[in-house]
Amino acid sequence: MKNIILIGFMGTGKTSVGRLLASRLGRSFIDLDKKIEQEEGRTIPEIFQQDGEMYFRQKERSVVVKASRLTGAVIATGGGAVLDHDNVIRLKNSGILIGLTADPMTILQRTERRNNRPLLNCEDRLSQIEKLLSQRKPFYEVADYTLDTVASSPQQVAEQIIHLLRQGGWLRGRS
Ligand code: S3P
Repeated sequence: MKNIILIGFMGTGKTSVGRLLASRLGRSFIDLDKKIEQEEGRTIPEIFQQDGEMYFRQKERSVVVKASRLTGAVIATGGGAVLDHDNVIRLKNSGILIGLTADPMTILQRTERRNNRPLLNCEDRLSQIEKLLSQRKPFYEVADYTLDTVASSPQQVAEQIIHLLRQGGWLRGRS
């Protein structure tokens, strides 16, 4: 059974949608950022601050390798995971890639309450979001299916994903 893998920019809902999707389908849920934090025993902001982004990206590659060996899991990736070509190949080989999107203002609203994303820690967060989004747009296009999350709750997005997967013949039975 293939994995269901959520990709997309920060604040598009990968973690909350992934958790709901997994519970709805009776599958296990793995959040790659959480895995990194567990393995390192520190938070992502601490990893960035103490060892830098390159170190974080190495850890990210190693959790992608491990997650790609799973079957039938729902996997939420970090927003930068698909910037790495090897990660994309591994993820593609292990499952169906679902891309989640949102516009810059929505991403700003969803991310401004918490300060847990080092790449958005700057004076003008909206410009930073716009800049990164336009740089990364081509990378997110590797998704097999793409869904916009602006007008939907995480629950609704999870249901939309189930619908798409059913139509594509990826799900069997009553799920
Ligand atoms: C990052 C996204 C974050 C986290 C790290 C880097 C990125 O994950 O992996 O802060 O490069 O977009 P979320 O997309 O879950 O916020």
